[in-house]
Amino acid sequence: MIEYRNLRVAILGGGSVGSQVASLLLEHGAELAARAGAGLELVGVAVRDPKATRDAVIPAELITTDAESLILGADIVVELIGGIEPARTYILQALHSGADVITANKAVLANHGPELFEAAEQVGAQLYYEAAVGGAIPIIRPLRDSLAGDRVKRILGIVNGTTNYILDRMDTWGDDFDEALAEATRLGYAEADPTADIEGFDAAQKASILASLAFHTTVPLDAVHREGITSVIREQVHAARKAGYVVKLLAICERLTDAATGVEGVSARVHPALVPLDHPLAAVHGANNAVFVEAEAAGSLMFYGAGAGGIQTASAVLGDLVSAARRHVAGGPGVAESTHANLPVLPISSVTTRYQITLSVVDEPGVLAAIATLFSDHGVSVEAVSQSVRDGADAPTATLVIVTHEAAESALASTVTALAASPVVSSVVSVLRVEGL
Ligand code: NDP
Ligand code: HSE
Repeated sequence: MIEYRNLRVAILGGGSVGSQVASLLLEHGAELAARAGAGLELVGVAVRDPKATRDAVIPAELITTDAESLILGADIVVELIGGIEPARTYILQALHSGADVITANKAVLANHGPELFEAAEQVGAQLYYEAAVGGAIPIIRPLRDSLAGDRVKRILGIVNGTTNYILDRMDTWGDDFDEALAEATRLGYAEADPTADIEGFDAAQKASILASLAFHTTVPLDAVHREGITSVIREQVHAARKAGYVVKLLAICERLTDAATGVEGVSARVHPALVPLDHPLAAVHGANNAVFVEAEAAGSLMFYGAGAGGIQTASAVLGDLVSAARRHVAGGPGVAESTHANLPVLPISSVTTRYQITLSVVDEPGVLAAIATLFSDHGVSVEAVSQSVRDGADAPTATLVIVTHEAAESALASTVTALAASPVVSSVVSVLRVEGL
């Protein structure tokens, strides 16, 4: 029988993820010890309400409300409370006491990542966060380690399961937004207050984390352009499919050059987008997540799976736990977060992409020509136009669906303003960016 050195593991939070991590750690302790080369002794689980019912059973003697004492005696602290405070303070306390820290908390990383990584570096500890983006999907380690020798050009991510579920239902079942949101809530994907998901805040936090890691540059949360899915209507989703696309909420992190200034930098944005039906991301259904990475040498890679769920997310946390234990056994300082590139973070106005604009117009001679002139006046080149006509009360009306070549956000914005003011346009029905072509 091999004698392992024992490492003391403290878990903060015994909710959906924390209770599953505790339960799996107790159940598979011997196997994990063999993989880690060290015994992993669960010394306690800190919670708010010791009497609360838990998804997975935690022995009563391990439950405590005294998180601070638990932190002080631990070699590895697993933060699964969520939110900013007290999670941030507990992570800092753990790092300052020399413990490695594992967290699944995208909010604290997106808002305080540099402070936390610096604290870890100062004491030679390491902060692990595989579960913070994409739940069970391995994406942090591939970006940090496997692709460390390559140059990531772009990431297109479906990183929020709730919104993917809603958009997928609108597409495959023809639900309207409210019906799909109600179903997402009933199934437990959406929170009682779904704002963070449907307004894109959750995805923006994940975009900030992915972009910072992929481009070796701190990309602050407030530099991530964010639009949610609340204005996406069933008719748009239906029209998109007819045109060969599916609507997805994407987190897009990319290297780019600002056309006006020539500055090379990076950008991160979250918004609904049209994805061609033959793109791998179009096949991501339900509440699943996927991260599509384009790297210079490796080409295109896709990481796919469960982006949430207590036990699924616990898998990623336990992977970090084994890594942290191996590091303790090997000795030496933790791997610091790399921000060496320190590239300029460019605003959404620097982005160029393609757009689909849907217009309602009166169907009479000269309208198409007037609209084409308006696009060219603003330097936006049209790739394709399709038209459907129906009888209106006074005159026939037409719906024009226009797809552009790549254009700058600023040029597109001024085109849309001019379209909205044009006497030949009844209304600008929708404007969606087209990604993944
Ligand atoms: P839960 O809300 O289910 O659990 C939070 C836990 O933290 C509860 O056990 C709660 O105690 C405890 N807690 C809250 N405040 C305190 C405090 N002040 N001191 C001690 N304990 C406290 O959250 P989840 O398990 O869903 O999420 C945990 C983390 O994992 C979050 O950062 C989340 O973003 C992340 N994550 C979650 C996923 C998921 O599918 N759930 C997916 C990916 C990441 P009590 O039980 O007594 O109320
Ligand atoms: N609310 C998130 C989602 C959970 O819907 O994907 C995982 O962060």
